[in-house]
Amino acid sequence: MMEYSLREYRDSDYAVVHEVYSTGFREHSRAIFVMVLRRLRVQAVLFAVFLALLELSGSLLTAMLGVSGGLLAIRVSVQCLLEQGVRLGLSEDLQNIRASYMDPSRVARFWVAEVQGILVGTVAILPCVEERGAWELKRITVLKRSRGRGIGKALCQTAMEFAANHGVERVVLFTSMAQSDAHRLYDSLGFKKETEFVWPSLPARLVNFLVYKYAYKVGVRTEQMLISY
Ligand SMILES: CC(C)(COP(=O)(O)OP(=O)(O)OC[C@H]1O[C@@H](n2cnc3c(N)ncnc32)[C@H](O)[C@@H]1OP(=O)(O)O)[C@@H](O)C(=O)NCCC(=O)NCCS
Repeated sequence: MMEYSLREYRDSDYAVVHEVYSTGFREHSRAIFVMVLRRLRVQAVLFAVFLALLELSGSLLTAMLGVSGGLLAIRVSVQCLLEQGVRLGLSEDLQNIRASYMDPSRVARFWVAEVQGILVGTVAILPCVEERGAWELKRITVLKRSRGRGIGKALCQTAMEFAANHGVERVVLFTSMAQSDAHRLYDSLGFKKETEFVWPSLPARLVNFLVYKYAYKVGVRTEQMLISY
């Protein structure tokens, strides 16, 4: 069993936290691409492009090039979407982590997980902008090499305990359709999926990129909520 420890964020973590966040966000590129290609509507459009080009040009090569162009356009849209997401995160709360989370005048917090002194994971919690009264769990990432050992769960439980100690009744989080490992983590913590919507950006609309909102009612303390690290 890999030994790990959790602690609050320090300014010296800044660059590594940015790196961990960006890497975790970008890793879903392939999964999103595959999810988009699995949609019947996308397959139908690509097939229609193929048939139309074949009919118009009489050339199989042209028809195949047309479909390749369509695939490339989807791939580029997915990349743009992920880069938008990374830029957004880095320009919001992560731009000044101390001010966003660790300022004593704000009730919010940022934690990191370490293995042998190396930062391998992050989580944060703060009052939710989109929903008054609720708090939002954010920036949950564990480096690939340290996954599946309970670190993500321990990070989330620490944040949830912090919320409970501050009298918070409802914790929400936003996750994307591609983050299936995270969905399992949230399920195991007792979160419930409430709504889904298309992320409001052009590349997201192009690939129908869904964001899910999960919520947890603090106070309904389940066995899983007991910190076990
Ligand atoms: C989501 C993430 C943080 C999970 O971290 P982790 O340290 O591997 O999670 P844990 O080991 O604590 O697992 C927590 C729970 O989720 C389940 N889980 C996590 N990854 C899983 C996987 N790949 N397959 C099956 N179950 C999984 C575990 O079974 C565990 O549940 P249990 O305790 O009831 O058995 C990690 O996969 C990650 O960083 N992903 C990329 C970034 C991301 O998507 N972040 C979410 C942003 S919304």
